[in-house]
This record gives sequence, structure tokens and C-alpha cells, in this order.
Amino acid sequence: MRILHVDASASDTETSHTRRLSSELVERLIAANPRATVVYRDVATNQLPHVDMTIRQAWTPENSTDPKLAGTINRAKELVDELKEADVVVVGSPMYNFSVPSTLKAWIDHVSIAGQTFSYTAEGPQGLLTSKVYLVLSSGGIYSQGPFAANDYLSTYLQAIFRFLGVKDVEVIRAEGVAYGPEQDQAAMASAADRIETLTDTA
Ligand SMILES: Cc1cc2nc3c(=O)[nH]c(=O)nc-3n(C[C@H](O)[C@H](O)[C@H](O)COP(=O)(O)O)c2cc1C
Repeated sequence: MRILHVDASASDTETSHTRRLSSELVERLIAANPRATVVYRDVATNQLPHVDMTIRQAWTPENSTDPKLAGTINRAKELVDELKEADVVVVGSPMYNFSVPSTLKAWIDHVSIAGQTFSYTAEGPQGLLTSKVYLVLSSGGIYSQGPFAANDYLSTYLQAIFRFLGVKDVEVIRAEGVAYGPEQDQAAMASAADRIETLTDTA
């Protein structure tokens, strides 16, 4: 089993909800699959640039031997390959302003490439990924239900993009309402940890 573990929190391991939960999940996957390998990509501390003209040029097949673009071409290939090769993708993402952190959006822009992770066909777009995806999410407020549910552009967006890329199996784990006081914070983390246990018992 090849695991790609992506973290996007701008908080450190001590304080981040998603970093703690995503690493718990990865540890449990490894415990169940001792021969699993992990590629770790921290898009918050090792940020990718926004897609710009140089990156667009590097994606163009006619430029594949341009020495000026070699570094950018190699990075593009590395990012896409590590996603395509993963059997399991674990994404730890906080909600920032109702959606993904811009660092995670930058990663998505680097890996959602026509001809690589999806293709356009006469019948429309077709995703090329076959992996299973776990989305480990956290938010100060509550969005899975209630008056703010319509503002959830985090779980909806991440599920949409991975489904677009071909993923059939997407599990969402949430620690939400963590800003509603220490009790809710602890309860949210305990509930997310329980869900991780349940999901990994059968992984
Ligand atoms: C820049 C920023 C924007 C945030 N925007 C929201 C938001 O729109 N809605 C919300 O409920 N919480 C928001 N939060 C709170 C985080 O989602 C919450 O603290 C979450 O637990 C962070 O995950 P982490 O502990 O893994 O970093 C925001 C936090 C930051 C730092």
C-alpha cells in the first residue's frame, strides 16, 4: 500500500487538529498494513508557487526539453507521479474562510492536469485516479449541519475535486466546532478519533 499524506495546516504539530488526526490515521493505516510506504507532503511549510506562466510553459509537451524549464518540469512530474502512484491519499485540511487553505489549492492546481490525472473524452471529462481518499478536516464552526451548512466549501470542494479526478471512495472525517470552547473542542477531536478508529478497523 502506497500512502500519500498531505497536510495543510498553518499550525504546528502540537496545536493543529488536522495534523494530529491525519497522522493518527496514517499510523493506523500503517499498523494495519505494515509494508505500507508513506510519501509526506506538507504544503503549508513547503509551499508550492501559484500556477504562473513558467509553470504553464513547463506543462506544454513542446517545451519538454527546454533546459530553462527543467526544474519546473521535474517538480511537476514529481507532484503528479506521487499522487498517481498512491493507493491511499490522506489530506489534512483546516477550513480557512469557508474553503481550503490557499496552499492546498496551489497543490490541487499542480496535480489536476488534463492527460495526467484526468482526461477529456468525447463523453466529457474522465478521472484517472483509482486511489481511496480520506479527508481529515477541522473548522472553528459547525458546517456538517445547521445554519452554516451552506457555507461549507471545504468538504464539498475537496470531495468534488477528488471525484472529478476519478476517486470513487472518499471518506470525510471532521473535527468541527473547535472554537466553541474547550469542551466542544475535546468532543470534536474524540468524535473524529472514533471515526478514524472505525474506518481503519476495516482498512
Ligand atoms: C486563516 C484562518 C481562517 C479560518 N477560517 C475559518 C472559517 O471560515 N470557518 C471556521 O469555522 N473556522 C475558520 N478558521 C478556524 C480553523 O478552521 C480551525 O481553527 C481549525 O481547527 C484549524 O485546523 P488546524 O488546527 O488543523 O490548523 C480559520 C482559521 C484561520 C487560521
